[in-house]
Amino acid sequence: MDFNRQENEPPFTIRHSSPANADAPIGIFDSGVGGLTVFRALEKRLPNESLIYLGDTARIPYGTRSKETIERYALEDAAFIQAKNVKAIVIACNTVSSVAAHRLREACEVPVLGVIGPGSRRAVQQSRNGRVGVIGTEATIASGAYEKAMMSLRDGLKIISRACPLLVPLAEEGWMEHPVTRQVATEYLEDFRHTEIDTLVLGCTHYPILKNVIQQVMGDAVSLIDSGEAVADVVAERLCAEGLMRQSAAPRSEQFYVTDSARRFRKVAEYFLGRPIESLETIELGQL
Ligand code: DGL
Repeated sequence: MDFNRQENEPPFTIRHSSPANADAPIGIFDSGVGGLTVFRALEKRLPNESLIYLGDTARIPYGTRSKETIERYALEDAAFIQAKNVKAIVIACNTVSSVAAHRLREACEVPVLGVIGPGSRRAVQQSRNGRVGVIGTEATIASGAYEKAMMSLRDGLKIISRACPLLVPLAEEGWMEHPVTRQVATEYLEDFRHTEIDTLVLGCTHYPILKNVIQQVMGDAVSLIDSGEAVADVVAERLCAEGLMRQSAAPRSEQFYVTDSARRFRKVAEYFLGRPIESLETIELGQL
């Protein structure tokens, strides 16, 4: 990794010393536990791949911050992950994917995959009546990233968006079925009930953790789109196309990193993944 800037390079180029190798892990990052929804989808779709996960729990939430701050955090996350010699980076965060994916792709030498494109494609394919809801963090909703992506895929869509920031701390708390979660979700989602949407994009990777409550509030007639599940297929296609599928017969490895509150992360992660996580380390991110 080298942060020295040279002429004709974008600022903060994140270089890695060796060329991508198929047996290297895939790096995944988010501000907290939300990216585990992407981790779980990747683990299911690509069971032979080694995975590295970073949750920037010291600086969550990202979704209430400015574009500049989100970009800086994302570059620091990606620098840490790339130093682990990953072969690809999955931005397991809609907020970063909405406002900083372009910047990360400029800065990183390995493929960087975000969740907006895959989630949008799935939503557009799923909706029968062309009325789609999007929920996400304030930064994601303000960016209009889902609207732009979906509009470019299908004419005549009616898209209704709403920021639901309080769902992030509820997911971090592990309050998956808690009455407070139900009350908050009902308050946020009430307006959607009169819009006749048949599809709702969970435009924040924390939200699938609360999927049961969200589905109950919206009713079974509305399909929920989990962008984490959608991105797993795209990662598989991309690795295949680039000849980067792991071939080794040795067992895969996984490593989790957080920047704070490891105990709390472990509790929610183990509950959500339904198994113990072996390797969890608290680290400090280098500042750019
Ligand atoms: N999980 C993240 C997302 O998908 C961000 C939550 C936050 O840090 O605000 O947007």
